[in-house]
Amino acid sequence: MGVSKNKPTNSLSADWYTDDKFLKKEINQIFLKSWLLIGPEAQISNPGDCLFQSIVDQPIVCVRQEDNSIKTFFNICRHRAGSFENKKSKNNYLVCKYHGWTYSINGQLKSPRGFNKSEITSEDLCLKYINTKIWKGLIFINFCDKPTSFGTTFNDVGRVLAPYKLENFVFEKKVSYRIKSNWKVYLDNFLEGLHIPIVHPRLNDVMDYRSYNTKLYKNFSVQSGKLDESKSPYAQSSNNVAYYFTIYPNILFNIAPGRFQTNIIEPLDVKECVVHFDYFFDSVCEKEILRDINFSDEIQKEDILICEGVQKNLSSIGFEKGIISDKYEIGVKHFQDYIRKSTS
Ligand code: FES
Ligand SMILES: [Fe+2]
Repeated sequence: MGVSKNKPTNSLSADWYTDDKFLKKEINQIFLKSWLLIGPEAQISNPGDCLFQSIVDQPIVCVRQEDNSIKTFFNICRHRAGSFENKKSKNNYLVCKYHGWTYSINGQLKSPRGFNKSEITSEDLCLKYINTKIWKGLIFINFCDKPTSFGTTFNDVGRVLAPYKLENFVFEKKVSYRIKSNWKVYLDNFLEGLHIPIVHPRLNDVMDYRSYNTKLYKNFSVQSGKLDESKSPYAQSSNNVAYYFTIYPNILFNIAPGRFQTNIIEPLDVKECVVHFDYFFDSVCEKEILRDINFSDEIQKEDILICEGVQKNLSSIGFEKGIISDKYEIGVKHFQDYIRKSTS
């Protein structure tokens, strides 16, 4: 009699990465209900400063208020769905680019051009508000009217992050990459280090693969790997370790000595996503910043090639579903379990 083996876990089947109905579910049941990272608050430092953005097809604008808080609105005029531009004047206003309706920066309708004030009730036509939270210098939003408490996930993330003093890092640069793959292909790839020796020769040279470790938490996971101090592209430190946080659904924190980088993975359609990188640095010099950004760009391009190739193959009739290593791919399994549970 043969010895029965534990069967490895099945990965999500290929249609999760190719069929639009899954993306629709993910948008409605995950993205529109989760706290989403928008970017560093340092981009809008003065009252009236606006950050216009779109995330999962929702046009938004984050506006710095007179009291220094940040409010977020849909970037959609209540007249007939025009968009705003930020008019800087003595008082700051949001002015619609279509027929010129004017709103104050707290979202109140000020001047409904083409209408008598007696015709409309301005209070009913103020800008639609989106829940906003600032945490460690980062802007997060949640499209739900009654969102889950921010602390449910981020208190735990904060506890694990506490030794890294993110508040000391200064925002330096934003870079975006458009990738022809489903957003989960990118996440699956990020969530394991098994591919590092094969796909990333230079990273493999810098990181001791045997030290690679994954810890799982509710709604996030943390991978870490020891850096070889003689070859590391990062600042020198007594703790030469790189940490890779994945906060579900789509936020990555990459931490290495002297630097902190956030990634936002945004689905564009079922076979395409965009990844936004924001770089923050401690006190390193220009040359070190450039070296870090170039190294990161090299790894990113290697990952993009793999992800785009995998996406093509997932669309083939030659592949149905894969398997996940219980030893080296537990981060992938944890993420895919979260996706299944959140959309069921
Ligand atoms: S749509 Fe904004 S003023 Fe008409
Ligand atoms: Fe990679």
